[in-house]
Amino acid sequence: MTDLDRYLSDHDRRIHDELFELLRIPSVSARSEHSGDVRRAAEWMRDALAKIGFEASINETPGHPIVVGEWRKAGPGAPTVLVYGHYDVQPAEPLDLWESPPFEPTVRDGRIYARGSVDDKGQLFLHVKALEAHLAVRGKLPVNVIVVAEGEEEVGSENLADFIASNTKRLAGDAVVISDSSMFAPGQPSILSSLRGLAYFQIDVTGPTVDLHSGSYGGAVMNPATALARIIATFHDADGHVAIPGFYDAVRDWGEDARAAIRRLPFDESGFQHETGAPALGGEKGFSTLERIWTRPTCELNGLLSGYTGEGAKTVLPSKAMAKVSCRLVPDQDPDSIGRLMEAHVKRVAPKGVTVTVQHLHGGRPWRAELEGPLFDAARRALAAAFGREPVIVGEGGSIPVVGDFQRILGTPVLLMGFGLPGENAHAPNEWMSDENFVKGAKAVAGFWDELATTR
Ligand code: BES
Ligand code: MN
Ligand code: MN
Repeated sequence: MTDLDRYLSDHDRRIHDELFELLRIPSVSARSEHSGDVRRAAEWMRDALAKIGFEASINETPGHPIVVGEWRKAGPGAPTVLVYGHYDVQPAEPLDLWESPPFEPTVRDGRIYARGSVDDKGQLFLHVKALEAHLAVRGKLPVNVIVVAEGEEEVGSENLADFIASNTKRLAGDAVVISDSSMFAPGQPSILSSLRGLAYFQIDVTGPTVDLHSGSYGGAVMNPATALARIIATFHDADGHVAIPGFYDAVRDWGEDARAAIRRLPFDESGFQHETGAPALGGEKGFSTLERIWTRPTCELNGLLSGYTGEGAKTVLPSKAMAKVSCRLVPDQDPDSIGRLMEAHVKRVAPKGVTVTVQHLHGGRPWRAELEGPLFDAARRALAAAFGREPVIVGEGGSIPVVGDFQRILGTPVLLMGFGLPGENAHAPNEWMSDENFVKGAKAVAGFWDELATTR
């Protein structure tokens, strides 16, 4: 046990109390009625950073504020690292499916249940506590640290890229470190090698000005719901490949080494299926489940709305139909180009007799890491020490839009070491974070700063 581990153990109770305080703030970035709560969470983060000895500030954006904390007393000879996380959370609905209220953190079976527990408040806060351990025990950090906590990750990080671009001097450094992802399995520390990108759309189809009697008009007026269904049906071929022309043009081959590494991972496919509750797994022909999630782009229907959906039957020809559609992207697909392809395709296949619009809601670039150099060596050692097992390299199907921006704008490598677990219900009812991972994560990160200062 190091001096830092002992400090974290000794203060375990208070650290949990503080985390629970943060979890009680319903900082739902998507809902305007919560914008005061989002700001309250930002202020809470700023104060938490100031309390441990950081210079901390709230930085306004056209949307939710960005919290920046700085500690630069390690001097110009020491590395400078930016720690990123997000203090905003997804909406908690449907509320009736929560076993304990989403904003009243509750520990059951070693799990901290609350909206945002693992995504990302718990993972962001364990970084703050690891930094506190250094400053409290030794009065200093072995590296210069900038903490950037944003409040718009769950709504697409709309304002963060601009903030980074107009603060490059202030945010420049040797690396970016993020904990906003999961471990491959319980007890198995993991370093991320890739994230998928995202291009999100809303498709609106309009026909007659009002809903029509389906007997008096049906067959003579194009039905917007049918038109939308026909459009959507062209997105995939029978083998599950995306059939939008040009969709795969920019996809870079993953490489045989990386594919072999994925095959070597002890993936529990039936456990994965069981966790979803789906009667069978399925996807693009020619790829394994992990390859489908980590290495292949998708076109996914997220929501559908049209016509009569109430009790019983109503003979109606709906005047409009709407779909939410998002594509997960892999290197080197670009959300803007995919947006143009999607829009052109939808317009081309749209049946006559309806008006179709495609809105681009938000996007983020995909990312793949180099995984070499002192940054990753330090992470490997710190994770192995804290968890008693060598970390594995894993991919990820989700997106953190800012990761590509950090790499592109600041030119620094990004290390993603997450402490979530499979089945943690992120974005769903009953989100939880493993308490063991919260505790070990803080110790791993505290050790990481020591490793980084010596592994150069
Ligand atoms: N922390 C997640 C990203 C993630 C998801 C990491 C799954 C590991 C596993 C992040 O907060 C998130 O939810 N991202 C969104 C993107 C955003 C633009 C709404 C996503 O992936 O849907
Ligand atoms: Mn997250
Ligand atoms: Mn999320």
